[in-house]
Amino acid sequence: MAVPPGLMLVAKKLPTRVFPAAAAFIVFISVLRLGFHIYPSYWAQALLFLFLFPISLTVYRYGQLWSVLHRARARGAVLPPNVPSERLAGLDLIRKMKENDASGYFGEKMEKDTELWGNTHGLEIMFLRRVVSNEPEHVKAILATDFTSFEKGKVFFEQQETLLGTGVFNSDGEMWNKERISHFEIFNRHAEDMIIQAKERLRDGYAIDFQDLVARFTLDSATEFLFGHDFKSLSAVLVGLRAGAGQVVAARRAGEYWRLFEFWKNGIEDEMRVIDGFLRPIIMEAAQKNKGADDKGREDESLLEHMARLTQDYNVLKDETLNIMLAGRDTTSSTLTFCLYMLSQHPNVMKRLREEILSVVGDNRGPSIEELREMKYLRAVINETLRLFPVVPLNSRTSVKDTVFPGLKPGQKPWFIPKGTLCVYSIWQMHRRTDLWGPDGAISFCFPGADANDTAPHAALDFDPDRFLDARLKKYLTPNPFIFLPFNAGPRICLGQQFAYNELSFMLVRLLQAFSGVELAPDAQPAWSHPPKEWKNKGGRAPVEKIWPRSHLTLYSKGGLWVRMTEAKDLNGA
Ligand code: HEM
Ligand SMILES: *[C@@H]1O[C@H](CO)[C@@H](O)[C@H](O)[C@H]1NC(C)=O
Repeated sequence: MAVPPGLMLVAKKLPTRVFPAAAAFIVFISVLRLGFHIYPSYWAQALLFLFLFPISLTVYRYGQLWSVLHRARARGAVLPPNVPSERLAGLDLIRKMKENDASGYFGEKMEKDTELWGNTHGLEIMFLRRVVSNEPEHVKAILATDFTSFEKGKVFFEQQETLLGTGVFNSDGEMWNKERISHFEIFNRHAEDMIIQAKERLRDGYAIDFQDLVARFTLDSATEFLFGHDFKSLSAVLVGLRAGAGQVVAARRAGEYWRLFEFWKNGIEDEMRVIDGFLRPIIMEAAQKNKGADDKGREDESLLEHMARLTQDYNVLKDETLNIMLAGRDTTSSTLTFCLYMLSQHPNVMKRLREEILSVVGDNRGPSIEELREMKYLRAVINETLRLFPVVPLNSRTSVKDTVFPGLKPGQKPWFIPKGTLCVYSIWQMHRRTDLWGPDGAISFCFPGADANDTAPHAALDFDPDRFLDARLKKYLTPNPFIFLPFNAGPRICLGQQFAYNELSFMLVRLLQAFSGVELAPDAQPAWSHPPKEWKNKGGRAPVEKIWPRSHLTLYSKGGLWVRMTEAKDLNGA
């Protein structure tokens, strides 16, 4: 029987929260008794203890702060400026975040904090010190140059471990980064299935929810890649969905105080039991079959078979497969969703991309690996989608020792990051910074009345794939690759990056062969998911956004992405 999460938290917090009061109490009582021969009643003692509680906590906290300042000074560093809070424990900040989540544009609150307090600033909520950053130099420190000072985060880890287990599967990276023919066969089958389904719905006169459709496509591909052909598709989908539900619970958890809201029962346990029921027979069979199999493996073996040759441990195999399913599923479908959204808003890009596809691959078969490499504009469109809509818009690490973020200008003091700081980094914000991506660009549709001749001070907010191909590439990205991190960086960079580019490219090729136009279907989009009217008066991309981007670990379009698409003529005798 597992210990209830809430009790675990209380037990963990007890020493630092209660002991200072207890110690002060004992000293106080001793002084009264021994020094002054005063013997207070039990009631007086209880009252005294209650009285000492907030005082000792305050003293304890100031002691901590003093120690932090002292350590910072010793390194010639300063603390990042804190976003001020008007309420105890930063409750007002929590309220503002909730408001942002309910009706604001994604990341808007953080954007405001950044304007006032800088690209790297502090935020204290529930007495937990965090640092929030969208500064490439600092993200680079976290992920690469000062990697060993950070861990995925005790807090993050505790939040995730009941779902993600403790899988470490770096050694298997080559497995899906090698461009395997079998992958392309999988993509092709599922892409064709998906396009047929889309055509049927559209021909019947309905709009389709592309986000939903494409999520099923990537789930099918991912499970087939993981478990092989024999895996029963229905149960695969169920496992995926249950795991997805667990993921949502995990995402709701903020900091370590999630235990208070799931005090007696871990919200993910039930989901895990269901997933276990499906996976156990499949994994056990693979483990049995591949035990002692020779090391080479077949070209078309599934990832599970591959891993089952290395270990027969059920828990390891389960964690690994689940990890990869979650890592590969929402990420790819989210990118495809936002890519189609952008194509719907930029018919000129759609047209040019189709021309590239038709001239390189033609209109009636999937692309080869070489053809994918040749299609530069396709890559640029994918990159530009990942820039404006990075699948993992917010991420975090926790410092495991005192360290510093480097100063940005000569002579600028470094920022002190004490041990145990939750460092949140916003890829979303970093990808939209004009000072990093340049004010140069052709259009500035973000500002009403702007036309093609206007200089575009906020061109970084425009969807403009050419920035990855023209002079701007050498000007901005090449000298500073850390401004673009959709796949993270450093030792824990996404292992599926190549696989993802291939899957995305393949799907887009097949899709644009089949369809020549796409437009949003606001009539089909649920009313509660339309962007609120107030967005028209906000800064950034909010005024031009036609959908509502949100995130639970990964980015998605609230209420789906409802579209109508025009079938291309003369295709397969359609
Ligand atoms: C557009 C698609 C994708 C994007 C944007 C993406 C992004 C990311 C990011 C940001 C991380 C780092 C998370 C962190 O450490 O906090 C990550 C990790 C990972 N991704 Fe992806 N991913 C994508 C697709 C895939 C696919 C298709 C697979 C597998 C088939 C995959 C497998 C992994 C794995 C295994 C990790 C964990 C690496 C580690 O922790 O050592 N990803 N991905
Ligand atoms: C897209 O981004 C990736 C990852 O940063 C980069 O390696 C690649 O060169 C980019 N390609 C294009 C065409 O922009």
